[in-house]
Parts: sequence; C-alpha cells; structure tokens
Amino acid sequence: MASKILLRRALIILSSSSIRNPKNPSARRCSSLSTASTEAPLPPSPIPPSIKSSTRVPSSLNEAEVAKFAAIADTWWDFEGPFKPLHWMNPTRVSFIRSSLCRHFERDPHCARPFEGLKIVDVGCGGGILSEPLARMGATVTGIDAVEKNIKIASIHAELDPRTSSIEYCCTTAEKLVEEQRKFDAVIALEVIEHVTDPSGFCKSLSALTVPNGATVISTINRTMRSYATAIVAAEYILHWLPKGTHQWSSFFTPEELVLILQRASVSVREMAGFVYNPLTGEWSISDDTSVNFIAVGVKDSH
Ligand SMILES: C[S@@+](CC[C@H](N)C(=O)[O-])C[C@H]1O[C@@H](n2cnc3c(N)ncnc32)[C@H](O)[C@@H]1O
Repeated sequence: MASKILLRRALIILSSSSIRNPKNPSARRCSSLSTASTEAPLPPSPIPPSIKSSTRVPSSLNEAEVAKFAAIADTWWDFEGPFKPLHWMNPTRVSFIRSSLCRHFERDPHCARPFEGLKIVDVGCGGGILSEPLARMGATVTGIDAVEKNIKIASIHAELDPRTSSIEYCCTTAEKLVEEQRKFDAVIALEVIEHVTDPSGFCKSLSALTVPNGATVISTINRTMRSYATAIVAAEYILHWLPKGTHQWSSFFTPEELVLILQRASVSVREMAGFVYNPLTGEWSISDDTSVNFIAVGVKDSH
C-alpha cells in the first residue's frame, strides 16, 4: 500500500517536470503534436500546449474531450482513481485481444510471448494500461495519445519493467501517424472513438495505419438504455467511478453502426464480444452481451 502511494507521488512529481528519461530515447522517435511543427511560432493560444493539435493535419481531436483527460492524467496508475473501471476491465480485454490476435496471426496462445515480431499501435493509450501487457506478450509497441502528460506518465511507468521499457510512446494523433506513413500489423483503439470529433475519419486513419490483412481493434460503449443507466448514471453519478461528464450518451455507437463505419474504412469486422460486469463478484467477463461495453476485431482489406 505504502509503495503504491510512493509510486503515485513519484509519478506526479516526475510528470509535472519536463524531464524525459534518457534510458527511453524511443519516446522521441515519432514527431510529437506539440513539437512537430517547423512553422513560425503561433501567437499565444488559450488551449494548453499539451492538447494543441497540429495546424497542418486534419484531426479528429476533440479539444474539450482531450482536456478532460489532461485534467486527470496524474491518476492513470491509481487503481482506486478515475481509471479504476479500466484497470478492473483490463485483464478481461487483454485476454480477449490475446486470443483474438493469436487466432488472426496464427500464433500459439499458450506461449509466453505470442506477439513476438508483431508491430502494434495503441491509439489513445492513456497511461499505457494496454500498451504494457502487449509489450510483455512480445509485441513491438507504439503508444500514442493526444495528451502529453499521459505520454509522460506512460513512459515513466513503462521504465519500471525491462519488458515494457522499449515501448515507443508519442504525443500525437492517428492522423499524424498516417501522414508519416507509419504501418502496423495491428491497430488498437480502446475506449477512444467515443471521444473523437469525426469517428468515420478516425476509423479511416486507423485503417490507413493497418497493413493489408492486418487487424484493427476498437472497443467502445453501446448506445442503449442500459448503457445510459450503467455507464453514465451509475458509474458517474452514483458510484463516482468516473468524473461526471466523462461520457456523452449520444457519442456512443451501436455495434451495427461500428461495423458500417469500419466497413466504409475498408475494415471487415470478423469478431465482436461484450464485456460484462458482475456487481456481486466485482469481476468482468467476456460475453455475447454487447449491450454496454463491447469490442470489435476487424481485418483490413487486402486491396
Ligand atoms: C478512455 S481513455 C482510454 C485509454 C486507453 N485506450 C485504455 O483503454 O486504457 C481515452 C484516451 O484517448 C485519448 N484521446 C482522445 N481523443 C484522442 C485522439 N483524437 N487522438 C489520440 N488520443 C486521443 C485521451 O487522451 C485518453 O487518454
């Protein structure tokens, strides 16, 4: 318990300074949102530099949504903080992604590092809750997020384990990576699409980052009465798991809508599953019930 508090304090102190860990030069490999521009300096902006988008690249960045995440960036690795639901859900979604990508890439799901040799990008990686297990499973991981503070927290946390210290973290957007012509075997965006301005454009960028026959994975929240009751009323207003206003019900997608958006982006959805929370056991499990949290795995068309 005491060590957790100390770790959290260290992360807060380090994240509020501009120090970059010299042992993780990979964190600088991709050009970052706030440092990429070679144009003349812009006049002062009311938008904090950590959430400013590039002026040259069309972006699905929703400044208001991104500001919400910037405000709670310090709490990414606080298991009792606002990201508690993601930490709780993580083993279940990691297990699903492991099985699904092993099937897709014909890897042995029983070996310790089934993703060895695969390049995976975690889009909207936050503090690296998913990027880290992907790296431990052997993938070469790039984690990107629009909030610079998230990237700092993620980089510092990844340094704590030699199996995750090689993760390439970068403050940028999917659109910017497309412009840089980056390609990945698998592109994963968990719980991000409901926070972007142009979901169709966002999916097209995810598709453009995926190699032909590669995998594109998206998880989000269904737009049902049940999701309103649980993901918003219960999670934000009754249980206070998430800050009020974290989610807008109208920004959620039904599975059918997500399938169509991905189809138009040249990604064919092959697998879909729900993640279900059991309030009696406090556990999450994989389910056919997609009425609240769900995940879709698609394959990028080969032509
Ligand atoms: C709900 S969190 C999910 C974090 C992580 N994917 C996970 O599931 O553990 C959403 C994340 O997406 C980031 N984000 C929102 N819009 C983005 C965009 N257009 N490009 C990149 N990151 C974005 C936020 O800063 C935040 O870290």
